[in-house]
Amino acid sequence: MSDVGTGTGKVVVNRAMSLDGFIAGPGHAMDWIFTHLTSDTFPEVMAATGAMLIGRGTYEVGRRMAADQDDAYDGGAQFVLTHSPPDEPDPAVTFLTCDIEEAVATARRAAGGKNLEILGTDVAAQCLRRGLVDEILVYVLPVLLGDGVRLTPPGLGRIELEPFATTRSGAVTMLRFRVRKEPGSSGS
Ligand SMILES: NC(=O)c1ccc[n+]([C@@H]2O[C@H](COP(=O)([O-])OP(=O)(O)OC[C@H]3O[C@@H](n4cnc5c(N)ncnc54)[C@H](OP(=O)(O)O)[C@@H]3O)[C@@H](O)[C@H]2O)c1
Repeated sequence: MSDVGTGTGKVVVNRAMSLDGFIAGPGHAMDWIFTHLTSDTFPEVMAATGAMLIGRGTYEVGRRMAADQDDAYDGGAQFVLTHSPPDEPDPAVTFLTCDIEEAVATARRAAGGKNLEILGTDVAAQCLRRGLVDEILVYVLPVLLGDGVRLTPPGLGRIELEPFATTRSGAVTMLRFRVRKEPGSSGS
């Protein structure tokens, strides 16, 4: 199945997760991710991605951990959502201060028909609440973190998912789910 349609790509919440359900360890630790996951682990995901919408929290964690990160990952244009853009903007990203739906529409246009990746707990939860997400893609990593940041925040509510792919590469298992959007199936 190709992810890259000829029209508008999908909106995909993309997460690395420990087996006990955390996407960051205590103190927002992310080092455990890069031990197992690089841009080479599932190259088809990067190839299908045309833009990324990133919460400011995630952006700041990423800046602090720059030395540990896989800088070969190229998901296209990067948009960072914030109420307070920095005085000296990073030329590699576009800072947005707007409603979540407008942010998704802007980043999606930049994706040029490829998928839009949503990175950030808060931003992803807002997208899920508004019914803006087509797919949740989780990389399950072989580690138990014990504590940290959960895959979704408390209070998101119930959202029905439809599994459609399970793929393993090395030590990482990628699980993919469509988000069901029928009335009554989304969180509130
Ligand atoms: N494992 C993984 O794959 C993975 C991936 C991504 C992130 N993470 C983890 O997730 C955590 C970060 O999550 P987070 O809770 O900080 O959420 P986030 O979604 O990264 O960032 C939240 C921030 O985004 C800005 N924002 C959100 N909605 C906005 C809107 N409508 N308008 C303007 N600004 C808006 C606000 O920043 P301002 O306060 O600047 O306004 C808000 O505080 C970190 O621990 C990170 O390590 C893990």
